[in-house]
Amino acid sequence: MDFRFTDEQLMIQDVARRIAQEKIAPSAEHHDRTGEFPRENIRLLGENGLMGIEVPAEYGGAGMDPVSYVLAMIEIAAGDAAHSTIVSVNNSLFCNGILKYGTEEQKQKYVRAIAEGREIGAFALTEPQSGSDATAMRCRAVRQDDGSYIVNGKKSWITSGPVAKYIVLFAMSEPDRGARGVTAFLIDTDLPGFSRGKTEPKLGIRASATCEIEFADFRVAPEDVLGKDGEGFKIAMGVLDAGRIGIASQAVGIARAAYEATLAYVKERKAFGAPIGTFQMTQAKIADMKCKLDAATLLTLRAGWAKAEADRTGGRFGNEAAIAKLFASEAAMWITHQAVQLHGGMGYSKEMPLERYFRDAKITEIYEGTSEIQRLVIARNETGLR
Ligand code: CAA
Ligand code: FAD
Repeated sequence: MDFRFTDEQLMIQDVARRIAQEKIAPSAEHHDRTGEFPRENIRLLGENGLMGIEVPAEYGGAGMDPVSYVLAMIEIAAGDAAHSTIVSVNNSLFCNGILKYGTEEQKQKYVRAIAEGREIGAFALTEPQSGSDATAMRCRAVRQDDGSYIVNGKKSWITSGPVAKYIVLFAMSEPDRGARGVTAFLIDTDLPGFSRGKTEPKLGIRASATCEIEFADFRVAPEDVLGKDGEGFKIAMGVLDAGRIGIASQAVGIARAAYEATLAYVKERKAFGAPIGTFQMTQAKIADMKCKLDAATLLTLRAGWAKAEADRTGGRFGNEAAIAKLFASEAAMWITHQAVQLHGGMGYSKEMPLERYFRDAKITEIYEGTSEIQRLVIARNETGLR
């Protein structure tokens, strides 16, 4: 097994690290406090190929592999988690499904603007009554004689909903068929019948704007149906397999930032006449933090590698993605918790970023499938039972 990265992978990691450290991290506190959407930074990331890392160059992206995506996402998340949420939705949830199932026209129209960072994309699956149980959706799409659809219903918790130009939407077109009755659509939010609710106030990732969206007799033209009728749930699940690698990377980035800050602090801060890092109880915490961080990083890189293999062979990588997301998100929660503790009162203060890392880490256990849902997916894959 070769643990070295290619020159291209190291290059994109370096570009992401530079932007994250020079532009994103310095404004993270401001964005967290104000909740202001970081439009300029997103544009900059787009200009550097980071809003369409795996998107081929002919559609405006960087044309890199999934391991590059993991490396870049870790760097961006270490700079600021909220930015990495926006980056993740654009890269994985928005672009991936269109690249795999879209027509040439759809790729040119929808992927390019997002991959170049000129516009923001979103992914709308969840509804007020259906999150984990995604097939219980009620948003209804009724097929017309000319092949267009009329959509009515609500989607909730939509990341970048307040600012998105384009949305990948999942709606029930044949309710009697359950998961096989879901169809995917590409939505231009400037068209009539679309509206956005208020931006949700949140515990963390506060600069990633989230809201409810609503469709009232919204007409989707036949050329904006993504994939085949009834194929929507498979598209959503396949896209989420890739998305979960992005969230695992985000968790690793947050955990690494918290770990590095803590490592510096325990060498500086003194108590009882010695650096707190000399106490065995501190050393045990540092050792456990490092083990969990490395394990999470390796599982996430393995998931990226598995996706690269699947892209080449047509195989599956959902299990590796779920394992990485489950482990990395719980590791991030644990590591940021220990990081706050090892900073004592300063860990609880807004003067330092530890409390923000702690708040930001929590979301990685919830979105793109809760930890319970990752366990369900892994156990179903392992046992073959349902
Ligand atoms: N790839 C392709 N197809 C898949 C699949 C996958 N990974 N997983 C399931 N399917 C297919 C199944 O084969 C099945 O197809 P058939 O009917 O043709 O056999 C169909 O989908 C239904 O599958 P299940 O019967 O397994 O469905 P279920 O109702 O038991 O639900 C679930 C499965 C795993 C719980 C799923 O509903 C799920 O993942 N829930 C969590 C939802 C989620 O992650 N939401 C995230 C929203 S986006 C977001 O959160 C973004 C953000 O924060 C930034
Ligand atoms: P529920 O499904 O109601 O779950 C409640 C609790 O029950 C959880 O602990 C859950 O794990 C548990 N539970 C449910 N079913 C089971 C089971 N079978 N076994 C064991 N436990 C179970 N969605 C989108 O479509 N697009 C987005 O861009 C998006 N962005 C989001 C951004 C944020 C900040 C947040 C908070 C959410 C976002 N979501 C988005 C929605 C997110 O994916 C859902 O919140 C998540 O999937 C959980 O669904 P729920 O909130 O309805 O919780």
